[in-house]
Amino acid sequence: MSEQGKIVITGASGQYGRAATEMLIAKGLAEKLILISRTPDKLADRAAQGCDVRYGDYDKPETLVAAVQGAEKMLLISGTRVGARVVQHKAAIDAAAAAGVKHIFYTSFIGIDDPANPAEVRHDHIETENAMRASGMAWTALRDAHYADAMILAVGPNAMATGKWFSNAGDGREAMVWRDDCAACAVAALTTAGHENRIYNITGPELQTFDEVAALMRDITGCPIEHVKVDDEQQYAIFDAMGIPRRPIDDHSVSGIPWNSDDMVTFGRSIREGYLEICTNDVEMLTGRPARSVRQMIEENKDLLIAAAKGAAKEPA
Ligand SMILES: NC(=O)c1ccc[n+]([C@@H]2O[C@H](COP(=O)([O-])OP(=O)(O)OC[C@H]3O[C@@H](n4cnc5c(N)ncnc54)[C@H](OP(=O)(O)O)[C@@H]3O)[C@@H](O)[C@H]2O)c1
Repeated sequence: MSEQGKIVITGASGQYGRAATEMLIAKGLAEKLILISRTPDKLADRAAQGCDVRYGDYDKPETLVAAVQGAEKMLLISGTRVGARVVQHKAAIDAAAAAGVKHIFYTSFIGIDDPANPAEVRHDHIETENAMRASGMAWTALRDAHYADAMILAVGPNAMATGKWFSNAGDGREAMVWRDDCAACAVAALTTAGHENRIYNITGPELQTFDEVAALMRDITGCPIEHVKVDDEQQYAIFDAMGIPRRPIDDHSVSGIPWNSDDMVTFGRSIREGYLEICTNDVEMLTGRPARSVRQMIEENKDLLIAAAKGAAKEPA
């Protein structure tokens, strides 16, 4: 058995949590993992692999102290209720401190130091980082860029089906990153020494505009897709017409995505105004291999994207 102490992971049933858990299990650490979910049944497969699956809910602080008991490190994966997560995350941080956790790792977001950044997610992340720093535990801020998966794989097929990718991101540039690369960085930080009180900016390998990303999708998939620039009000109207709520609703998704428009519109504005124009080599520094690119994601998922776009085109309006 490795020298590694126990690691507790919140959000372990989500996409990021599953990816990180998979990598930790591949390192032989299954029995060192405590996995938290509001629905432990979702993690029955992990229990069968030797992980300790426990019930915990950010909204029920009393459940969290018992849930994190015995852990040396915590990977706090941010929750989904954008704009209302500070209370939730503070409950998890307080529970970790009370249970004697020594080091907390948090999935934060890039570009949050500037108070002028209009992205609604900024507040949740900076306040959570502040709570982590004030907790007395060692901390590591894993500041992830925009997930390429969220744009290419989730939004891509609908945009390809209509040929138009509407966004209020304008000509802003960002270095979108693979979610799995973010999880790999978390795993590297959790399992190697020297990450106390550090901030990492975990980005893809190059800055790109949405025009450039749409051109890549067009070239690689053959679908005639173009980026159509809209202003914030037009972007809200598009989301309203899709039935996307302005504020987040727990466990509510539209077309499979748990989004809300206040988050997305302020996010697009943040890109447009340059707050997310950050590109680093932190993925390579942490994991020993370069960050994968948006091009690679489109190439590797070309057939899936084309099939999903055909499916989306057939859906009734
Ligand atoms: N950088 C980006 O571009 C970007 C994009 C999307 C999301 N994110 C952030 O990254 C996080 C992870 O992404 P993901 O794709 O893994 O999300 P996901 O698949 O939607 O998973 C969300 C996780 O949050 C947990 N959760 C939600 N509410 C909870 C609560 N009240 N108490 C305890 N756990 C709760 C869920 O656990 P149970 O349902 O099992 O309790 C689930 O495991 C997201 O939550 C979001 O904060 C970042």
